[in-house]
Amino acid sequence: MQRIPLRNVQGRLLASVAALLLAACGGGGGGGSAPPADLAAAGQEIFRYDTFGDEARWTDTLRMHEVIEQGVSPATALAVGLKVDAEAIPPDLAAAIRAGNVDMNSPATTVALIKLDAVVGLKGEVENVNGVDRLRRVGITCALCHSTVDDSFAQGIGKRLDGWANRDLDPGAIIALSPAIDAGRKAIYRSWGKGRYDPRFNVDGISKPVVIPPAYGLAGIHKVTYTGDGDSPAYWNRYVAVVQMGGQGSFSDPRLPLSVTNGTQDLVSPKLPALEAYQLSLPPPPAPAGSFDAAAAARGKLLFAGTAQCATCHGGALFTDANSRLHPPADSMAEPENPSYASRSATKMYRTTPLRGAWQHAPYFHDGSAATLDAVAERYNQRLGLGLSAQDVADLAQYLKSL
Ligand code: HEC
Ligand code: HEC
Repeated sequence: MQRIPLRNVQGRLLASVAALLLAACGGGGGGGSAPPADLAAAGQEIFRYDTFGDEARWTDTLRMHEVIEQGVSPATALAVGLKVDAEAIPPDLAAAIRAGNVDMNSPATTVALIKLDAVVGLKGEVENVNGVDRLRRVGITCALCHSTVDDSFAQGIGKRLDGWANRDLDPGAIIALSPAIDAGRKAIYRSWGKGRYDPRFNVDGISKPVVIPPAYGLAGIHKVTYTGDGDSPAYWNRYVAVVQMGGQGSFSDPRLPLSVTNGTQDLVSPKLPALEAYQLSLPPPPAPAGSFDAAAAARGKLLFAGTAQCATCHGGALFTDANSRLHPPADSMAEPENPSYASRSATKMYRTTPLRGAWQHAPYFHDGSAATLDAVAERYNQRLGLGLSAQDVADLAQYLKSL
């Protein structure tokens, strides 16, 4: 296994340089029209493989390189929802895994996979010392939470699906593995569960995680996050890269108020135009053929625009009024909650969630309190007193599944 060649390291480096050059030329801008393809391609590299220098947090502070080397086998990694990029695995290794000749219970195999850039969202620096691969540094990338795989090789191993939220990932359980965190905080992190993360806990000390949303389907939508904090993905990308991932750079927003600077260099700003272009290039996945009842969906569509009044907020081709207004907390069917997630945000409001691709990412609402689209339709029916019959609710759900 040690002789497996590193995949295309030089190509990777060149692409990053290209991203920097393109960014320096001033691409990007608001979440608007279709981004140029070359900028988006550079953004893909950043989305998948760039840590923005966050090894300072994940290695120097949290010591995750030791945790992984000492105790995280591929089996353990898959159990906490990490995914493996099958296309990064060379054919001989793939054959060995299929034949059962690779020890999936050995942390050394995880290190080998990290060396191949095959663990989605983890970026490591591996050094061969006397014939043994040692994980020297490790950081995380955007793909950790916002990519999954299609399971085409095995459960948790397949082709990357960028922009799809990784709802199997248990970020809290992963962070809680760090020896640098005390028992009280470990218990909090472990309480979050799969597919959930609190991107404000380390800022306000409140633990109330939200569901990891998809990063696709955002083209043309000028408000990002559940609470519409930013006018374009770049706003939130900067927030997460600096404040959550621990990347080197600065974030500041007087509305929160919050001002954070990590390190002395800015490894975030130059990459934001390309990173945003890539996200805006990711379309929502169409509903698979046969996954919904077309006749019921057609009836549901009429209800959506008519009796059920969904289109008053989820209007237009993007199924959201985000570009013209945000909503008071009471408009969210997940409220009242204590504390309100909106109260912790920059806007104190909620954005009407765009619905294209909704079939793909249960559970629903920012707190994940509706397990299915049927549950969503029923929640609205009861809370707003819409007077829909059971058949109407089912039809509405079929329509939501078709978007
Ligand atoms: C540890 C998990 C995690 C990582 C890593 C992460 N995110 Fe997120 N992301 C979240 C969560 C949780 C939210 C929801 C926050 C909210 O809406 O208040 C979110 C929201 C978003 C949104 C808003 C989507 C929408 O519907 O408006 C975008 C865009 C996004 N992230 C992009 C990124 C990018 C780009 C990176 C890398 C710089 C990144 N994220 C890294 C967890 C993560
Ligand atoms: C007054 C404005 C408004 C109306 C009317 C409205 N919604 Fe919503 N919708 C929202 C807001 C705001 C959210 C985000 C709530 C949250 O996550 O806390 C949302 C979230 C959703 C979600 C969850 C999406 C996700 O990915 O989590 C679905 C599905 C949905 N609405 C469907 C509907 C349907 C069906 C109707 C009609 C019965 C409807 N909405 C009526 C404003 C509205």
